[in-house]
Amino acid sequence: ESEWVVMATGRSPTNIAVIKYWGKRDEDLILPINDSISLTLDPLHLSATTTAAVSPGFSRDRMWLNGKEIPLSGERYQKCLREIRKRANEVSDEKKGLKIKKEDWESLHVHISSYNNFPTAAGLASSAAGFACLVFTLAKLMNVKEDLGQISSIARQGSGSACRSLFGGFVKWTMGNNADGSDSLAIQLADEAHWTDLVVIIAVVSSKQKETSSTSGMRETVQTSALIKHRAETVVPARMLKMEEAIANRDFASFAKLACSDSNQFHAVCLDTSPPIFYMNDTSHRIINLVEKWNHSEGTPQVAYTFDAGPNAVLISPNRKTAALLMQRLLYQFPPNQETDLTSFVVGDKSILQ
Ligand code: PMV
Repeated sequence: ESEWVVMATGRSPTNIAVIKYWGKRDEDLILPINDSISLTLDPLHLSATTTAAVSPGFSRDRMWLNGKEIPLSGERYQKCLREIRKRANEVSDEKKGLKIKKEDWESLHVHISSYNNFPTAAGLASSAAGFACLVFTLAKLMNVKEDLGQISSIARQGSGSACRSLFGGFVKWTMGNNADGSDSLAIQLADEAHWTDLVVIIAVVSSKQKETSSTSGMRETVQTSALIKHRAETVVPARMLKMEEAIANRDFASFAKLACSDSNQFHAVCLDTSPPIFYMNDTSHRIINLVEKWNHSEGTPQVAYTFDAGPNAVLISPNRKTAALLMQRLLYQFPPNQETDLTSFVVGDKSILQ
C-alpha cells in the first residue's frame, strides 16, 4: 500500500478588543463573565499561517511553532484536536484514488506546522491568531461541516480571544448561557468592508514577555477584585449596546470614547486585584496622556487607545490623515532610539484557506 499525505493550509489574523474580555466563569471550558467586541486586523502583518497534514505514516500528533517542535500534550491543544476530530467527515480524492472514511480520523495522526509573521517575542499577543488558525485549518483538513460560529466555540477552548479571529471586520463574542459552552461563540457584527477608513497603529513599547499571564491574571481578578462584579454585570452590558451602535453608524467619537474607557476600566480592575497587576508602564501612560490632551484640545476624539495584558499601545485613528499626524506626534515624543516601534494596520479579513 502506497503512503499518502493530505494537507490543508490556513491563515488567521489577530484581533484587538475594544470591549475587553477579562474573567472566566468556567476555567475548563473558557466561558467569560462578560461579552466582548474586537476588530480583526488585516493578515499582512500580525497573523498565523498553519499547515496541517495527515498520513498513515504518522505515528502520533506533532506540532512545530516557527520551526521548533512544541509539545501538544497541553490540555488546550488536546481539547481543540478532540473536538475537531469528533466532527470529522469523509475526505476523498478520486484522482489519487484516496478515501479517508469518517471513522478513520480516530486513528490517523496529524503533523501541524505554524508560523507567526511577527516575532513571537515582540510582546504582541499571538495566542488568538494561533488557536484560531489551528482550529480553522484542522476543520478544513477533516472536512468539518459546522459553521464558523460553531468552529469559533472550539477555538475559544484554546484561547478565549481566539474565537473572535474566525471572522473579519468587527466581531462580538457572546458569553452565552449554556453550561456546556455551546452558545459562547463569535458573531460578526460588520465585515471588513464596513469601516475601511479606520487605521490601527500599534506602538511596541516593550518586547518583553508579560509578567502575569492572562489566565492567572483573570483568576486573581475574579477572586479578589470588588470592582470586577460591577464591571461585568453593569458596565459592560450597557457599553456593548453603545459600542454596537457606534460601529453600525461608523460614529468614531462614540467608538473612541467607549474603547478608551473600557481599556482604562480593564486596567483599573487589574489594579484592584490583590496583589495588583500592572500591565502598562510609564511609556504607556505617556501615550494615554498624549492622546487625551490631543482629543481634549480638539473638543472631539481624534484617536482611540486600547491596551491589552501588556504595555504596548494600540491606537485607532478615523482616517489616514489623522493616522499620519499621530505617527508624527508619536515619533516626536518617542524617538526611535527609545525603541518605540510603530506599525500600522487596517481592519482586515477573516480566517482564510490558501
Ligand atoms: O484570550 P486570552 O486568554 O489571551 O485573553 C485576552 C485578554 C485581553 O487581550 C486582555 C482582552 C481581550 O478581550 O482580548
